[in-house]
Amino acid sequence: MTVMPIRRNMKFNLDPSRINSWSGRGKHVTLFLNTLSTFFPEGERFFIDSLRNYRSEITEPELQEAVRNFIGQEAMHGREHDEYNDAMAAAGLNTKSHEAQVTWLLKSMQKFFPKSSQLGGTIALEHMTALMGDFILRHKEIFENADPTYRDIWLWHAYEETEHKGVAYDAWLATQDDSMLAYANRIGTFALAMGLFWPLVTAYYLSNLRKEKGLTDIRGWMTMGHFLFNRKSGMFTTLFSEALDYLRRDFHPWDHDNSDLLRELDALADLYEQKPPKKKTA
Ligand SMILES: [Fe+2]
Ligand SMILES: [Fe+2]
Repeated sequence: MTVMPIRRNMKFNLDPSRINSWSGRGKHVTLFLNTLSTFFPEGERFFIDSLRNYRSEITEPELQEAVRNFIGQEAMHGREHDEYNDAMAAAGLNTKSHEAQVTWLLKSMQKFFPKSSQLGGTIALEHMTALMGDFILRHKEIFENADPTYRDIWLWHAYEETEHKGVAYDAWLATQDDSMLAYANRIGTFALAMGLFWPLVTAYYLSNLRKEKGLTDIRGWMTMGHFLFNRKSGMFTTLFSEALDYLRRDFHPWDHDNSDLLRELDALADLYEQKPPKKKTA
């Protein structure tokens, strides 16, 4: 295990009045990141369930502990992003209906797909969140002039997605064989996950922009184009070039060791972690 994740009870108490204006990069970037948040709580509960399905088959104590801490981290992300998404809904976005569609989709997968494919979908999306986390931590300038608590919830999530990026994959390795069929399952569920996730992100993003009257804002689109596609540090330019690593038969998330990025995580935790009150000594 390269890094053992730690469960931290972090509380951000975001200012709901800044929900659609928190980024220093303008409305289009704010709403894009907000749109990603729509998927987190239900997605993370799906990841937790996918791992719980295999808990009894994981016997290695270190991996058992990592799975326990993975579940703890994702539960905290879900709780904080529920609050985030409530602020989006309160500001008039269609977040509740988007979330209901995501819930329906994930529940259908749990009903109709074998548990190995549910875990396959989980490791595919964990690969994507790990790449996004890596991008965010290497390009903190995207949060220049942002509301600090909104910046910090994104940094926290990026740190912990990095910290636990190998856990679901290790659970996959511990419970699946290395047959061609298992590989086909991993690649097929990756294609399915990407084929569902990105079109939904696009549809919900356009819906959010329409509500906030951003669809015809040419300057906003130019900022967004730069944010996603600029050659040196565009988010999609970076993600697409790294995502295909996953296709390698011997891929592992920690082949790309970016654990050095975690060095500032403790300082962030000091600001937001809820510690139980110290017991008084008589
Ligand atoms: Fe998460
Ligand atoms: Fe995760």
